Amino acid sequence: MRLPIIAGNWKMNNTILKSTLLIDEIKKSSLNKDVEAVVCVPFTNLSDVKKAIEGTDIKLGAQNMHWEDNGAYTGEISPLMLKEIGIDYCIIGHSERRQYFNETDETVNKKIKTALKYDIKPIVCVGETLEERENERQEEVVKEQVLKALEDIDNKNIKDIVIAYEPIWAIGTGKTASSDDANQMCGFIRGIIGDKYGKEAKDNIRIQYGGSVKPNTIKELMEKEDIDGALVGGASLVAEDFVKLVNY
Ligand code: 13P
Repeated sequence: MRLPIIAGNWKMNNTILKSTLLIDEIKKSSLNKDVEAVVCVPFTNLSDVKKAIEGTDIKLGAQNMHWEDNGAYTGEISPLMLKEIGIDYCIIGHSERRQYFNETDETVNKKIKTALKYDIKPIVCVGETLEERENERQEEVVKEQVLKALEDIDNKNIKDIVIAYEPIWAIGTGKTASSDDANQMCGFIRGIIGDKYGKEAKDNIRIQYGGSVKPNTIKELMEKEDIDGALVGGASLVAEDFVKLVNY
């Protein structure tokens, strides 16, 4: 049985004050214990959110990290710094980082390896552009992203990796992939894992869908066989919506 995982990606939103208010609001409702709830927040908010979620089952995630432990990398944040705060997850290779900050399959691969070394669970994002989908290249593109992300990563680590299939054309656009299309691509990714790592890895890896997921679309997505959760942007910034997503 794969534990469903609903993760909020706050992106570059919420000051420290606003994030603690949001967590306080979320804490007023009870969250389904059979679903793992994660909030991935800006670096500057991690420590305060960590305190705010104390005593709850909500897990903490960052949205990026460097692959080196330390060094002359002005403006970057190292895994050791994140480990000290006590994060559980880190989003790696989000399409916004690939698009605006030159994240490549190679850096994604290095970051995943470092995260695993420090017991930080990576949420690895993959997904095609609209143009690639229109040319029916989504499988080819996603396969390459998945295989490059996982290059030289051991079978034993696969259970700690979450893959988020986020078609770029569905992010922040209000256009969700249909639950069938989302499931088809999550199943396709599961197949790639099966081919590379075998049946156990295939059955155990958790695969999320992301892209304009809202309280009114989550249930149908979660009913699909190969979708184990969601990575949610906009809707995760509203306490009531986040609670509804976790309690789908
Ligand atoms: P939206 O839910 O705002 O479309 O964002 C999706 C996303 O990018 C999550 O990582």
